[in-house]
Amino acid sequence: MAIIMDGNGRWAEAHGVSVAEGHRAGARALRRVVEAAIDLGIETLAVYAFSTENWTRPTDEVADLMVLLSETIDEELPDLAKQGVRTRFLGRRDRIEPWLEQKMRLLEARTAHLDTLHLWIAFDYGGRAELVEAARRLIEDGVPAEAVDEAALAARLYAPELAEIDLLIRASGELRISNFLLWQTAYAELVFTDTLWPDFDASELARAVDAYSARQRRFGARALR
Ligand code: IPE
Ligand code: IPE
Ligand code: MG
Repeated sequence: MAIIMDGNGRWAEAHGVSVAEGHRAGARALRRVVEAAIDLGIETLAVYAFSTENWTRPTDEVADLMVLLSETIDEELPDLAKQGVRTRFLGRRDRIEPWLEQKMRLLEARTAHLDTLHLWIAFDYGGRAELVEAARRLIEDGVPAEAVDEAALAARLYAPELAEIDLLIRASGELRISNFLLWQTAYAELVFTDTLWPDFDASELARAVDAYSARQRRFGARALR
């Protein structure tokens, strides 16, 4: 499962608080939703926290988001680790400040043995950047053109072990992918909800899973009647 955690800014505006407060409420929602996902028996959850395009936001907001990731690593993710959550990050690492990148790596190492739920936090992530990087790795590895196939490319994504996404949820009413997991969502079922991410909760997650369960997936084949 994957979630585009969108709507923090609109939530902040609706509540008359700063955008930073909106993002903070979004971080609290993440913790709540991960716990709900554990209860539902979901094994893998990928969440979109910061896109390659989000760097274009005001400098202050970007700085706040970096601090918020750091606080989330310190305050929320250790509690989730106690519940068996293995956390890994997905995306570019070269533009994140070293102090933060080191924290990300430490958390990944400290939770590497956990297995209840695999949490992937997409941070400085872009689907196009991921595919470009995979193409570069194919060339660096000297793979001849005739050996380039889906498996060869998939093996060079940021996280080859991240399986195909079955269900992609987007909060906040926007009906787009915004450069998230372009390869992995090729046949994902999409569920959109108007709920702003900071208001997203267990019942919202359960509703999305119910919607998914009612879908008929065909993967291009003729439907059975
Ligand atoms: C999502 O909330 C969080 C990030 C993109 C970092 P937004 O900040 O995009 O919230 P809206 O879309 O402006 O409401
Ligand atoms: C997508 O939301 C990125 C994250 C949720 C981290 P955006 O708010 O950045 O996307 P757009 O600009 O509405 O497409
Ligand atoms: Mg947004």
